[in-house]
Amino acid sequence: MNRRLGVLISGRGSNLQALIDAIRDGRLDATIAVVISNREDAQGLERARAAGIEALTISHRGWPSRDDHDRAIARKLRAREVGLVCLAGYMRLVAAPLLEAFPNAILNIHPSLLPAFPGVDAQRQAIEHGVRVSGVTVHFVTSELDNGPIVLQRAVPVLEGDTAETLAARILVEEHKAYPEAVGIVLAGGWRIEGRRFVRSATAASASPSPLPAGS
Ligand code: GAR
Repeated sequence: MNRRLGVLISGRGSNLQALIDAIRDGRLDATIAVVISNREDAQGLERARAAGIEALTISHRGWPSRDDHDRAIARKLRAREVGLVCLAGYMRLVAAPLLEAFPNAILNIHPSLLPAFPGVDAQRQAIEHGVRVSGVTVHFVTSELDNGPIVLQRAVPVLEGDTAETLAARILVEEHKAYPEAVGIVLAGGWRIEGRRFVRSATAASASPSPLPAGS
């Protein structure tokens, strides 16, 4: 598989940083070809530039439609020969032009055990629901919000006295391990999508086994 990544962000960019660090440390065999933000003030743009990676803003404002914005993003990604798109805190729905330009080649990281708590404020949703375990999911992006085939999940306990903020911080630690690992699994190949399942061949799975949940 083409190991050139395009990373889409909207803000802080700590998951982008986790990918940058994993590549730098030799834990992930990939290249980040470009980082694109829909917000000019995203801190992640600075992280990219500090790592010598091209960083662009393509604002979602001022386009006639969502499709036009996504078409512009797809054009930039293709021009840089990106093979896998990683959403890392990209707070926009992905529209058809981008999905069609990268079929089964867009990943997202979400701070809950999907299908529980899709959408925004997943950690607050988990606290308010009273679940005892939450976590992180890396999944393929489809036209439905936070609903594509799941590549990898890690569980994170919800502790007595947790707030949305303390839970988010504990989940974030696992996100930073999970995203490079999931990207590595996808780039290694030997998988297929069956219905809504991500299925790895026996050889691919034994070469890099999926991680056990935290604490096991
Ligand atoms: C992360 O917790 C990520 O899982 C979440 O936004 C945060 C971005 O942090 N994404 C979503 O909620 C997507 N629905 P970061 O900018 O520091 O990587």
